[in-house]
Amino acid sequence: MQRLCVIPGDGIGSEVTEAAVTVLQAVLPQLVLEEADAGWGCFQRTGEAVPQATLETMKRCGAGLFGAVQSPMHAVAGYRSAIVTLRQRLQLTVNVRPVRSRPLVSPKRGVDLLILRENSECLYSGRERLDRDGVAVAERVITRDACLALAERAVKVAKERGAWRITLVHKANVLPLTCGLFRDTCKAVLADAGFAPIVDERLVDVAALQLAEAPERFDLILTTNLFGDILSDLAAHWAGGLGLAPSLNWGNGCALAEPVHGSAPDIAGTGRANPLAAILSAALLLRHHWGLNDEAERIEQAVERFLGKERRVDFAGQTTRKITLGVLAALE
Ligand code: NAI
Ligand code: MG
Repeated sequence: MQRLCVIPGDGIGSEVTEAAVTVLQAVLPQLVLEEADAGWGCFQRTGEAVPQATLETMKRCGAGLFGAVQSPMHAVAGYRSAIVTLRQRLQLTVNVRPVRSRPLVSPKRGVDLLILRENSECLYSGRERLDRDGVAVAERVITRDACLALAERAVKVAKERGAWRITLVHKANVLPLTCGLFRDTCKAVLADAGFAPIVDERLVDVAALQLAEAPERFDLILTTNLFGDILSDLAAHWAGGLGLAPSLNWGNGCALAEPVHGSAPDIAGTGRANPLAAILSAALLLRHHWGLNDEAERIEQAVERFLGKERRVDFAGQTTRKITLGVLAALE
């Protein structure tokens, strides 16, 4: 029986997680739910952005659904982004971000790519310091172990989706040690698995241009944390924007589904948050973590059918409730 730790977080987080749980329960009636706290509101109430109890609930359930959290734009003593903490503390070392053209909402047809991003290190290692006045330093940490974990997941995903191209995105011309370790480690694992003929590489700046110009040229993309963070938001444009961009933080025996968008304070509480990114994130949990491909497909196809039926793509005029009911009605 599957257990799910629900972490609503701040702002629209609670609105979209409630919608995604409703849809998840429709395909998985036995699902056991536990709720846990995290985020800026939690920090203000308890002094911790991710309480120990939340980490324990996540470990006990082995799977979670995260809404969104708010982070201040300036340093606040003792506060660190809750999602970055969860990724690191739970060793959710790989981030899965699919981008697929969807009826009506996508500006382009024929896009079907998946970005696998390293999720625990790189410039997000947390090693940032002020050396002296006017000199701030951030350390970019790349380890062979994290690259191996990423490449091994890539082999699994490439087999499952029948990948026709695997693109390694890096900047090894300027960062030969860190990006070189990433590229060489990934290449070796992919070659061992027989994928050498379809492995390709791109410098990150060129990859950004090509993702903007011809996203259909990409299939599976492997990259480091910061590059993946930026490129996946760029690529999300082709799927209809942030309201439709799902992701999965994927570890060993533990995974956390997470819509890519933030807490959207400008619309929080108005009932207008688009829950599709959260609903599609739940589908990623079904497919990649629980291995429930049929249930994942049911949700993804229901979203597709729901969007296909809409005559106008005006999410401002939609409500979270209306979209959720529309997806539920489209489930087969
Ligand atoms: P945001 O993603 O919250 O919002 C950007 C714009 O997109 C806003 O106009 C918002 O209304 C809209 N939007 C986002 N999600 C939507 C949805 N599901 N339905 C309809 N419209 C949606 O990003 P922003 O404004 O840069 O950040 C707001 C807060 O969220 C900040 O405190 C930031 O730190 C945090 N954040 C948290 C993330 C996370 O929890 N993973 C990721 C990104 C930002
Ligand atoms: Mg991001």
